Amino acid sequence: MATPAQTNALISGFANPRSPIGPGDIVIVGAGLAGLFTALELAPLPVTVVSAAPLGEGASSVWAQGGIAAAVGEGDTPEAHAADTIAAGAGLVDATAAHLIANEAPARIRDLLRYGVPFDRGLEGSFVLSREAAHSAKRVVRVTGDRAGAAIMQALIAAVRQTPSIRVLEGYEAEDLILKGNYVAGVRLIRGVERGNGNYELMPAAAVVLATGGIGGLYAVTTNPQYARGEALSMAARAGAAIADAEFVQFHPTALDFGRDPAPLASEALRGEGALLVNGEGHRFMPALHDDAELAPRDIVARGVFAEIRAGHGAYLDCRKAIGDGFADKFPTVYRYCSEAGLDPRHDLLPIVPAAHYHMGGIATNLEGRSSLPGLWAVGEVACTGVHGANRLASNSLLEAIVIAGRTASDIDRLALNAADLGPVAPRRINGGAVADRTLRSELLGKIRDTMSAYVGVIRDGAGLRRALDTMTDIEASAQGDIVLANMALAARLITGAALLRKESRGAHFRSDFPAEASTARHSLVTLRDVEMLKQRPSGRNGASPHQAAPSHAVTT
Ligand code: SIN
Repeated sequence: MATPAQTNALISGFANPRSPIGPGDIVIVGAGLAGLFTALELAPLPVTVVSAAPLGEGASSVWAQGGIAAAVGEGDTPEAHAADTIAAGAGLVDATAAHLIANEAPARIRDLLRYGVPFDRGLEGSFVLSREAAHSAKRVVRVTGDRAGAAIMQALIAAVRQTPSIRVLEGYEAEDLILKGNYVAGVRLIRGVERGNGNYELMPAAAVVLATGGIGGLYAVTTNPQYARGEALSMAARAGAAIADAEFVQFHPTALDFGRDPAPLASEALRGEGALLVNGEGHRFMPALHDDAELAPRDIVARGVFAEIRAGHGAYLDCRKAIGDGFADKFPTVYRYCSEAGLDPRHDLLPIVPAAHYHMGGIATNLEGRSSLPGLWAVGEVACTGVHGANRLASNSLLEAIVIAGRTASDIDRLALNAADLGPVAPRRINGGAVADRTLRSELLGKIRDTMSAYVGVIRDGAGLRRALDTMTDIEASAQGDIVLANMALAARLITGAALLRKESRGAHFRSDFPAEASTARHSLVTLRDVEMLKQRPSGRNGASPHQAAPSHAVTT
């Protein structure tokens, strides 16, 4: 595993500032906050945004309840925000990145105000701020209580629709990157409605930005929309990109256990307002686990909830006293979820379960969104800048997305200055590819999700991780060339392989066979070749490889 400095050196060494800008326009895959903000910041350069679902549907950003962390409250400072970010990240936060996002936060909030985002304000005009776990101050800028993500996306979608330089392809999914020599020169797309008839479109691109979001859909219990399946991680890894810290998956402790898929979220801001966590016997279990009790770092709360459920006690969010009658006004989204499940949070306990929520790892990038491959940028949850370390501080993700989106756009803009033939190119239609039959596909999809939850979840061990790797390898082999399944299984393998290689517990990655934190905090950096090598190695102690200390492309100390 690489030290943070070595990782950064590696990434900036990989990323070639003289990447050839070829014909085509700038293709952004993904239409959440990161993708749309990058597109808007690139205007008037020609951009195509590829979105699997109609704009506003299918992106995690729309479902974000908390809001955006920004030190805009009285007495709060960007330094305090950066310090909390660094403390939450369990030794792996890149301090430069933390200071960058904390310093830029107030300016980015002003940008969003210009786009018309109606952040909640008090009578005197100052922002109404929520408190979330591991923040030392009330610091989360919100909209109508818990509707920040939806309101921000609504404003950005309206702006995108009015920007003539942005073309939006809705209903298209990216399945692979097109390489020309050693640089990324386009994407292979498929229209969802054409899946199964073998028709694909090849879209040449002057630059490709992956902004596809997270990996929650690889797990049986997740708060993420169904499209968050980690496919872009696989596309990037297959093309040769380095993947950083893939083992760090954040589980939100209070997904509502209403039997829905995806699981609806009960925002951490509820606990910020004083809601409690209790087990089925009405006993508060968090005070015994951490001084900050319900507002302890998210990984600790998730493990606390997980332990109660595993012990058969059940786990519940109790909002009755702390929030009471104002619930529907303060948290309209959560209130609606509860009503739909026949519960009234003013009077009922809410059953909860930890759910895969956010991927701290991803395509390794620098702070301009550059990946290790020329021609490829990544921004938002799919990327790993190192700002979240091993455990993301709540409401830092939308902030990171807009800060890095702006810098990514400037970076591409600089490279595009000399590109004479920048402009939209029609996708070329081809025939090929395969899709597994419907029953096999849903069976294998379910197997990926169940396996990830069982063996690569809140608590892991070497034997379970090895078993998950084997299962993913089998699934890839039996996927009948179905690229969605192959991409999902590979993404799962990248996460599982990195988890197997990290023989310690840190932040969101907890191994019962290595429960202690190692004395030195190291980032992990793996390539496709590294996880392929794990496939072939015999199991060593606890299922871990005897030679696993250093992935072949990782810098080690
Ligand atoms: C929440 O509102 O609890 C989620 C916020 C986040 O994950 O940043």
